[in-house]
Amino acid sequence: MNRITSLLGIQYPIIQGGMVWCSGWRLASAVSNAGGLGLLGAGSMHPDVLRDHIQKCKLATIKPFGVNVPLMYPQIEEIMNIIVEEGVKIVFTSAGNPKTWTSWLKEKG
Ligand SMILES: Cc1cc2nc3c(=O)[nH]c(=O)nc-3n(C[C@H](O)[C@H](O)[C@H](O)COP(=O)(O)O)c2cc1C
Repeated sequence: MNRITSLLGIQYPIIQGGMVWCSGWRLASAVSNAGGLGLLGAGSMHPDVLRDHIQKCKLATIKPFGVNVPLMYPQIEEIMNIIVEEGVKIVFTSAGNPKTWTSWLKEKG
C-alpha cells in the first residue's frame, strides 16, 4: 500500500492514461480488473457515448475506475454532470486549469 493505492482504492500504483479514441470501457475495465486504475478517455466521446462507456465499465468491473476529461471539451458541463450522475468517483482532468472544476467535483463527491 502507498498513498496512491489507498487514495484510489487500487492494488498496484499503476494508472492507465486517458487516451482519446483508445481508452474505452474494455481497456479501462481490464486495467481496473488487473489491479490498476483504468481511465475512460472522454475527450473523444459525445456525452451519450461517455454515459454508455461508463455504464458498460460498471458492468465489467467492480473495481474503481475513472474518467479523463480534457477541459477544452465543448460540452464540458454535460460531461461533468454525467460523471456525477453515474457515480464515478475519480476524475482526471487535462488540457486546462484543474481549478476550474475541482471544487465542484469535490462538492459532488
Ligand atoms: C493516443 C493517445 C491519446 C491520448 N489522449 C489523451 C487524452 O485524451 N487526455 C489526456 O489527458 N492525455 C492523453 N494522452 C496522454 C496519456 O494519457 C499519457 O499522459 C501519455 O501517454 C504519457 O504517459 P506515460 O508518462 O505513462 O508514458 C494520450 C496519449 C496517447 C498516446
